[in-house]
Amino acid sequence: MSLSVRGLVAGYGPVTVLREVSLEVEVGRILALVGANGAGKSTLLRCLAGLHPARAGAVLLDGVDVTGLPAHRRARLGLALVPEGRQLFVGLTVAENLRLGLHGLARPDSTEGRRRLDRCFDLFPALRELSRRPAGVLSGGQQQMLAVARALVREPRVLMLDEPSLGLAPMAARAVLEALSALRGEGVAVLLVEQNATAALEIADRGAVVELGRVGPVRPAAELLRDPEVGSRYLGAAPEGAVGRTGRRLEGVIGHPLLPSSTSSP
Ligand SMILES: Nc1ncnc2c1ncn2[C@@H]1O[C@H](COP(=O)(O)OP(=O)(O)O)[C@@H](O)[C@H]1O
Ligand SMILES: [Mg+2]
Repeated sequence: MSLSVRGLVAGYGPVTVLREVSLEVEVGRILALVGANGAGKSTLLRCLAGLHPARAGAVLLDGVDVTGLPAHRRARLGLALVPEGRQLFVGLTVAENLRLGLHGLARPDSTEGRRRLDRCFDLFPALRELSRRPAGVLSGGQQQMLAVARALVREPRVLMLDEPSLGLAPMAARAVLEALSALRGEGVAVLLVEQNATAALEIADRGAVVELGRVGPVRPAAELLRDPEVGSRYLGAAPEGAVGRTGRRLEGVIGHPLLPSSTSSP
């Protein structure tokens, strides 16, 4: 057990967005939360990171209640968020971006700092070759790897990723997600949020659907991939013979918002 979320409620002004979300993210496992645009996925990650207040419920990190702690204290305790849009320093080199990740933990030129940077370069060998290039000239996929690596230099206990494949070409999206598979042996619990449901569930151990601020039952990822109802609504694979209202077969598009089908229940 690493991250426990219990009955989390959050919103904006009069609007409630998260409705009693509970889940557990375990070390060495990848939990994927998939769901349509607007379901509340980013709000959940921002609440867990301490960037948005919870109205009720609790967030526990290795059993310690961190619900009242600000973001920087949670980060120090081992919670890392790779935000949507990566937020790299495009004018700085790859190595400089990684060194910034060490801030407050180790000096980049210390033994500890070098060990941490080396470990990230071992996990993402492509970044070692690109280390002197400005982050801004990297491809979208390479930039996303860098954003993940910058979080990993902190050796977090929980790594949360908000739509790491968003805006990437399908091959780059898959490469980024497959790189996350390598983290299983690294002693980190991974919480992955994606609209790109198929690719996310293919690399995850377990998954759940987020719908209107509620997280459905956590199930083995392979089981979700096979579930025809999940398939027709989130995976872009309509069950045999299913057609949309227009009479065309329902088709999903990787990297695009997946909207619930017109037959969705309230
Ligand atoms: N800063 C904000 N102020 C008001 N409403 C917001 C804000 N951010 C998100 N929302 C609303 O909260 C809901 C969930 O958004 P979000 O968490 O971004 O969903 P997702 O990441 O699943 O697309 C949406 O209805 C969205 O419009
Ligand atoms: Mg989002």
